[in-house]
Amino acid sequence: MFIPAFTILAFFSGVSLCKLYEDIADLPALQYDFVIVGGGTGGNVVARRLTEDASVSVLVLEAGPSNAGVLDAQVPFLSDGVSNNGTAYSWRYILGGCSSHSKYGMAYTRGAAADFDRYAKLTEDEGWSWNQIFPYFLKNERWTAPADHHDTRGQFNSSVHGKNGPISVSLSGFSWSEFEQHVMQATEELPDDFPFNLDMNSGKPLGVGWLQYTIGDGERSSSATGYLTPDVLQRPNLDVLLHAQVSKLVNLTKSRVSPSEPFAFQGVEFKYATNAGSSLYVAKASKEIILSAGPIGTPQILLNSGIGDRTALTALGISTVLDLPSVGKNASEHPYLGMSWAVSSNQTGDSITQNTTQFNEAFAEWNSSHTGPFVDPWPGTHAGWLRLDPDSPLFDMHTDPSPGPDAPHFEILFQPFGFAGTPGHFISLALGMVSPVSRGSVTLSSSDPFAPPLIDLGLLSSDFDALALTEGINLALKFLTAPTWNGYLGAPTVDLTSMSSAELTAHIRAISGPGYHVVGTAGMSARGAQHGVVDPDLKVKGIAGLRVIDASVLPIVPAAHTQAATYAVAERGCRYGETELEVVEHPTNERTSDNFAR
Ligand SMILES: Cc1cc2nc3c(=O)[nH]c(=O)nc-3n(C[C@H](O)[C@H](O)[C@H](O)COP(=O)(O)OP(=O)(O)OC[C@H]3O[C@@H](n4cnc5c(N)ncnc54)[C@H](O)[C@@H]3O)c2cc1C
Ligand SMILES: *[C@@H]1O[C@H](CO)[C@@H](O)[C@H](O)[C@H]1NC(C)=O
Ligand SMILES: *[C@@H]1O[C@H](CO)[C@@H](O)[C@H](O)[C@H]1NC(C)=O
Ligand SMILES: *[C@@H]1O[C@H](CO)[C@@H](O)[C@H](O)[C@H]1NC(C)=O
Ligand SMILES: *[C@@H]1O[C@H](CO)[C@@H](O)[C@H](O)[C@H]1NC(C)=O
Ligand SMILES: *[C@@H]1O[C@H](CO)[C@@H](O)[C@H](O)[C@H]1NC(C)=O
Ligand SMILES: *[C@@H]1O[C@H](CO)[C@@H](O)[C@H](O)[C@H]1NC(C)=O
Ligand SMILES: *[C@@H]1O[C@H](CO)[C@@H](O)[C@H](O)[C@H]1NC(C)=O
Repeated sequence: MFIPAFTILAFFSGVSLCKLYEDIADLPALQYDFVIVGGGTGGNVVARRLTEDASVSVLVLEAGPSNAGVLDAQVPFLSDGVSNNGTAYSWRYILGGCSSHSKYGMAYTRGAAADFDRYAKLTEDEGWSWNQIFPYFLKNERWTAPADHHDTRGQFNSSVHGKNGPISVSLSGFSWSEFEQHVMQATEELPDDFPFNLDMNSGKPLGVGWLQYTIGDGERSSSATGYLTPDVLQRPNLDVLLHAQVSKLVNLTKSRVSPSEPFAFQGVEFKYATNAGSSLYVAKASKEIILSAGPIGTPQILLNSGIGDRTALTALGISTVLDLPSVGKNASEHPYLGMSWAVSSNQTGDSITQNTTQFNEAFAEWNSSHTGPFVDPWPGTHAGWLRLDPDSPLFDMHTDPSPGPDAPHFEILFQPFGFAGTPGHFISLALGMVSPVSRGSVTLSSSDPFAPPLIDLGLLSSDFDALALTEGINLALKFLTAPTWNGYLGAPTVDLTSMSSAELTAHIRAISGPGYHVVGTAGMSARGAQHGVVDPDLKVKGIAGLRVIDASVLPIVPAAHTQAATYAVAERGCRYGETELEVVEHPTNERTSDNFAR
């Protein structure tokens, strides 16, 4: 192994030296204790936490470019949701992963306590229960004043928030006051169905409350900005290589590791690409490989490596290392749909998206002082977390898919803007079914490891979810019957009330799209379980020295936007120092010189 050149350089120069490598020729080594695949939401947490121990060396391989200087990944309003038609599934590569993604909504929601208590039950590990995960939410979070420094009393509960973590979380920093007042007034007028909830992140989300965002000082706070800060990137034991897309794991292990885990890899093959072309390289992990490539990338890499359903792998001509049928299965995702109404007010986001002058003024304000409407992203001002009627006939069709009576079936996002792109002023309600029965899959299309995988989210493949959404629509319409909306609310862009129930279900199927909250494709399960991909310590079952630390391990989607849960998974999953990770002993690798030749 090379001595990292940085340690010497840093001694001589006082300037900040970033060990975020654009060019592989600058990377000092291709052998590390840990190789993390994917510098995304989960991966950057692991990178930072592992390198807190100075004796451990870590390489992060990230397929995408840097987030630095990408304005769309910095300005919350440009997260583009206002023009998002909800049907395009984009999963772009960038440092910070989906936490940097330009279309990412930044809503900060943890889910219900019962979601985590169910994970504890499924994994037979109390460590995943709400009470034991709670400290990791706090460890991730730095509660921050909103950009407009408004009085936030009565809008959140300070005792459920972290104060010193890497990720800034704040309430909205720009007020759409007229709309907000109607939402708050409606919770007072219809308190039985829509009670006000001071803080939806307390573990008991039911009700309607103010949304919180991963935003600080009017800027997106991502795993790249929050965890890979300049001081972390300067650690001599951390290297991050960009433009490095991992294809598969390769076997650099010489001997059997242990009878219970007879397989190990220790090698990661990746393509480093520039405009001039691309070449394949192998990086070596002497202790562990950690897959943090996200719920699409992680199962794809496992399958490319021969870990998955033997029948499916064989059909593609990939030889099976370990028959693990759950890889890529049980993809769990929320279906969402949007509904819009014209309003009599011009105080809506449409005034900005439809008027270039106002758009430019708002951008200039953000640019000069990080204030104004651009400090907030698209999801809206409030969210409601609601349940199906306990007497719903749907429960005759299927047992309740939610984890308990304090967990929601629906999310309604309250949004002071339209979806349609139609001229005028609108408000919208985005409705999600957050305890779906449907499951999907990520499978390979080819034995070419760089071929795009097949993503079938299975949205609404269960009738339960589609029928539940009709009940969710009725709840949303009920909210708008509160007297406060009289005189403000105009006609809907689509008249749902005149549809027959068959028409409504067909409409739901036509307009629903993913919430971008996929999990479960490398799900954790109890050690003895016949299904599942990783054990409760996130180690891939039957393989030594291989762990998954990203959203894929959550076996069922929580009733929440999934970044907070992903951060908590990563904060818990990398407890290096608390629980010693297994060290894979291996003899000197004979193939080193070939594999590591540049
Ligand atoms: C459009 C969109 C909007 C969202 N909005 C919200 C929201 O408002 N609130 C919320 O809480 N959650 C939201 N989410 C969900 C949340 O962002 C994800 O659940 C979470 O970020 C997943 O984290 P991860 O670490 O599993 O994956 P990612 O963050 O996707 O990280 C994976 C990383 O691996 C890299 N990678 C992938 N394949 C390879 C490979 N082969 N080799 C090398 N690198 C690779 C990727 O470039 C990426 O950096 C949104 C997601 C999307 C896509
Ligand atoms: C949604 O947007 C994508 C591109 O972002 C486009 O291809 C698709 O046609 C759009 N769908 C609708 C229904 O507008
Ligand atoms: C705030 O949260 C704490 C801890 O869960 C709880 O004890 C307290 O009652 C909450 N306060 C309010 C006003 O809801
Ligand atoms: C790698 O090779 C070693 C030695 O042949 C073997 O023990 C180990 O099981 C192999 N690992 C995989 C994943 O095939
Ligand atoms: C999917 O998860 C369920 C538990 O939620 C489990 O019973 C089932 O076996 C899993 N299916 C696969 C293919 O892993
Ligand atoms: C918005 O409406 C108010 C009152 O109806 C009016 O005075 C104002 O000019 C309008 N603003 C824009 C930008 O249309
Ligand atoms: C756009 O906004 C500007 C500034 O508020 C206003 O003067 C102008 O009339 C608006 N244009 C249209 C077409 O509404
Ligand atoms: C943004 O601010 C920078 C200086 O901080 C300035 O150079 C640039 O012109 C500004 N852009 C806009 C659109 O206001």
